[in-house]
Amino acid sequence: MKQTIQQAVKDISKAKNIVALTGAGISVESGIPPFRGKGGLWEKYDPMEFAHIQSFLRNPKRAWDMIKDAMQSLITGAKPNDGHLGLAKLEEMGLLHTIITQNVDGLHQAAGNTDVIEYHGTFAWVYCMSCNKRYRMEEIDLNTTPPKCACSGILRPDCVFFGEAIPYDALTRSQTVASQCDLMLVIGTSAVVHPAASVPYYAEQNNAIIIEINPSPTPLTGTLSHYIIEGPAGEVMRNIINSF
Ligand code: OAD
Repeated sequence: MKQTIQQAVKDISKAKNIVALTGAGISVESGIPPFRGKGGLWEKYDPMEFAHIQSFLRNPKRAWDMIKDAMQSLITGAKPNDGHLGLAKLEEMGLLHTIITQNVDGLHQAAGNTDVIEYHGTFAWVYCMSCNKRYRMEEIDLNTTPPKCACSGILRPDCVFFGEAIPYDALTRSQTVASQCDLMLVIGTSAVVHPAASVPYYAEQNNAIIIEINPSPTPLTGTLSHYIIEGPAGEVMRNIINSF
């Protein structure tokens, strides 16, 4: 790992326009489980049963019970770890410009990054499926599910369910920033869910250096990324920042 960290510090120092693509793995050290792999959320829940828009619409109570049990308590109590803080430091150093995140936990903003594209939406907000009124997640009463709006419409989280389109602005801006960067950090994503997983290909078209940070290889490893730093995001980012 030491050698790849030294290489990454060299590459990051030379880069003019760094963009990061992050996934659930960056929040693992904050206590939020990933979706895939051991201990992942999709080991316990079938995503097509619980996280597809059709199943949400068919049975919003069941989907909300899953959200409440599996995610909300973790997300509301979670704090940024050294992975998030390292990316905030890279922004402060004038190196990192934008984070494209698949995460809905708000931890990049909590760490201090100012340009975060929430590719799969956010858990910080919910909105009414009847009148579109928005509420902060922490404002709503989850004792009875599904939660309801003042107009009695059903509330839904402002995230992207399977079967839904990526918000237009997030999609187009991600393509733009990825195609302009000269270095992309791909951190904590299994890179199997599209279109998010195709974002690094825009960077490749600009001849950007693509560095993965992940304890396990992904479909990008050895194919698209130049190298992988195999380790947990918090530890790797801490080492990178301390090596400047
Ligand atoms: P996944 O759960 O698919 O993948 C998590 C990745 O993080 C894996 O590659 C792990 O090896 C890696 N990982 C685990 N611990 C780590 C650590 N401490 N540091 C760094 N990496 C670590 O999560 P995503 O790729 O984010 O979408 O999943 C993509 C999308 O699938 C999610 O946004 C969500 C999900 O279904 C929707 O629900 C629409």
